[in-house]
Amino acid sequence: MTAERNVYWQSTHVSRTDRERLAGHRGAVLWFTGYSGAGKSTLATAVEARLHAAGVHTYVLDGDNIRHGLCADLDFSDAGRKENIRRIGEVSKLFVDAGVVVLTAFISPFREDRASVRALLADGDFFEVFCDCTLDVCESRDVKGLYKRARAGDIPDFTGIHSPYEVPESPEIRVNTGEDVLDTCVDQVLAVMVDAGVVSASVLSA
Ligand code: ADX
Repeated sequence: MTAERNVYWQSTHVSRTDRERLAGHRGAVLWFTGYSGAGKSTLATAVEARLHAAGVHTYVLDGDNIRHGLCADLDFSDAGRKENIRRIGEVSKLFVDAGVVVLTAFISPFREDRASVRALLADGDFFEVFCDCTLDVCESRDVKGLYKRARAGDIPDFTGIHSPYEVPESPEIRVNTGEDVLDTCVDQVLAVMVDAGVVSASVLSA
């Protein structure tokens, strides 16, 4: 950082490249975005299981879990969501530097916030995965009963009800989590990881 703030960048002896060589694969961010109930966490954890089985170092950052700790102080106002995504972007960047494939499952409703995370990372390190599932389907699933409570007025600023979701314009991956079965979506994500050279083709047979 800047000398004005009396904070300097401390370099390390071990580089990202060293860590990636040890791991045998690149670090990357798989950024799952979509409505609550679209299947982000289900898909992220299923992709992680396949990567792990193939010997890839992984970590899942999940909105519901992170809001119990690192982001427990944040609400669901636009500003609260912005700060939530900013923090997760910075944490994801550290994971990439550690040579890990980090999978994030956050609604991350605002294009500008997702673009800011993309801009934090080098080209080819960030994969936006749009979990495309209509609000109607998400609401009919209502796995956590939150849509019903939001409609009843118990939860303010609920995404899709009183707060917007801005659909990704050019995500690296679009999965149809409203219609396709889980395995199809997992294979689709893994195929892109292999094509991009993040991991070896062995993940496809793991
Ligand atoms: S984000 O918009 O800031 O990216 P995040 O992914 O961390 O959201 O958290 C979303 C989860 O918090 C949802 O899956 C749901 O379980 C819960 N939640 C609680 N209140 C809200 C709300 N107002 N809008 C959306 N999700 C909410």
